[in-house]
Amino acid sequence: MFITFEGIEGSGKTTQIRFAAEFLSATNRPVVLTREPGATDVGRRIRAILLDPAHRNIDPRAELLLYMADRADHLGRVVRPAVGSGKTVLCDRYFDATLAYQGYARGLGTDLLTRLHKLVLDDFTPDLTLLLDLPPEIGLGRAWRQIDAGERTAAETRFESEALRFHERVRAGYLDLARRFPGRFRIVDAAGTPDAVRETIQKVLSDFLESYPPRP
Ligand code: TMP
Repeated sequence: MFITFEGIEGSGKTTQIRFAAEFLSATNRPVVLTREPGATDVGRRIRAILLDPAHRNIDPRAELLLYMADRADHLGRVVRPAVGSGKTVLCDRYFDATLAYQGYARGLGTDLLTRLHKLVLDDFTPDLTLLLDLPPEIGLGRAWRQIDAGERTAAETRFESEALRFHERVRAGYLDLARRFPGRFRIVDAAGTPDAVRETIQKVLSDFLESYPPRP
């Protein structure tokens, strides 16, 4: 099973995906917790290029292809083998992030991206996607507080440095995807306390597992 977590900066994905991994492990499921970009040795180098604030003028298509390169390596070497051997893979961001950030917010549109996803990644799609939704003012405030407190590295702030408008487009893109693919997406209100969000996510996961696998 392949479950992804998505959301804007500061939505609490990283904290919540760890809670979710603990919750699922406690039900005796073998869980693999992973993320994009940067889960493999090659991916970590790609991540460093992508998130370096010095690269603020990178061409949007080059940015897109670096995310796709990271994903091809991650999917081939980590995600597919794990899903194939019956593990539950929890992934912090996946293709929906490319659609939201490069497609909607950067303005590349979704057609080229969807074609690339089919061509390079065989259209490999999550079984479930949790979208942690909150206003960008709140998310960015949280993200910068973590960076200022040294909890997150300042070497990876290229996206946090984007204007608020950019993050509003990312959020709107995610919400549009959730509307287009209601069978796969669940929207979680991420503005509450970590405990409240954690409870909501546990309920979503329990409900999903009850009806999994879906009837043909
Ligand atoms: P992270 O901080 O959640 O690890 O994500 C790294 C940044 O990369 C985040 O700002 C979102 C961005 N991103 C994209 O623009 N496109 C993508 O396809 C992915 C996976 C992430």
